[in-house]
Amino acid sequence: MEDLIREWKGETVVVRYDREADAWIFIAIYSTRLGPAAGGTRMRTYPSPRVALHDAMLLAKGMAYKYAVPNMPWGGGKCVIAVPEGLDEKVRPGLLRRYGALVKQLGGMFYTGPDMGTCSEDMDIIAETGAPYIFACTPKAGGSGSSGPYTAIGVLAGIKVACRNIYGTDDLNSRKVLVQGVGSVGGPLVDHLLNSGAHVLFSEVDEALVRRYRDEKGLEYVPEPAAYDTPCDVFSPCAIGGILNKATIARLNCKAVVGGANNQLETQEDADLLRTRGILYAPDYVVNVGGAMAILGMETKGWSKERAEKEVATSVSEALEHVFQIASKEGISPEAAASRIAEQRLAQA
Ligand code: PHE
Repeated sequence: MEDLIREWKGETVVVRYDREADAWIFIAIYSTRLGPAAGGTRMRTYPSPRVALHDAMLLAKGMAYKYAVPNMPWGGGKCVIAVPEGLDEKVRPGLLRRYGALVKQLGGMFYTGPDMGTCSEDMDIIAETGAPYIFACTPKAGGSGSSGPYTAIGVLAGIKVACRNIYGTDDLNSRKVLVQGVGSVGGPLVDHLLNSGAHVLFSEVDEALVRRYRDEKGLEYVPEPAAYDTPCDVFSPCAIGGILNKATIARLNCKAVVGGANNQLETQEDADLLRTRGILYAPDYVVNVGGAMAILGMETKGWSKERAEKEVATSVSEALEHVFQIASKEGISPEAAASRIAEQRLAQA
């Protein structure tokens, strides 16, 4: 792990090994130039602690860029809790409380909220020891609940901007959209798309979610291996990262990629591969800021739910439109355009 930390361009890494749960806690803080670091807590099993640390580092950078593009006064950070496979449900609350105590010890250097593998109910437990640095607790505990639905609003806004750029209209009626992952972001996104008249297909690895969306809601299910080949207007990754790479980009059969997942590109060069293939890519951190933006707005600025939804939709639309304009004017990928905006903001701060 030593070389990972040495080569990383971020500021700080906090490492805690939790013996009781045999879990590794990595808090990566990429930048606090724009404000204190805030980012989700991701909990899952990794092949090794090193892979988990690397994920935390990449995700923290994504958070920094995410806040920088719409000029939010927050820094980029993320926590990854790498748990052993089949973690005993009985040890989980204790692990969350010990993690909360660590966040509290950091004294405002890192604020957190839900991410893949954690939910608002988990934030309630973390907040028992970690308050006041925990966002998106349940409404019962005085929080604003899940951030996923707000992220979905931003992704929907991004899909509309992409369609306007490609087809000249953002009317989603009959547009074919393939949503990869119908969890806390993809699920609400599917509902918005259906309400807009889109033809929605989905892929999902969780059996229970497949049953809910295929059998109960009657949506067209695409088994995961076919997710990349299936013809559609928009491919919307809303699950894991690193899914856009040389192999998958060659298979894509869509006009645009606009999704909520963090770190969708395996490498920076993959942005150019997408451009060469004539696929419009909406940089993930530009369109998935909605959850953090809404929760931070409601919990630190007193926004209403309605205000938060409006701010997310407007802000994502404007930012993505701007990014696409720069990209087409300069003949560069939207990813290159967006990262330049973010890097300039961070450098100027
Ligand atoms: N999971 C959110 C994201 O990746 C993180 C977040 C949620 C941050 C809520 C703050 C508040 O953007």
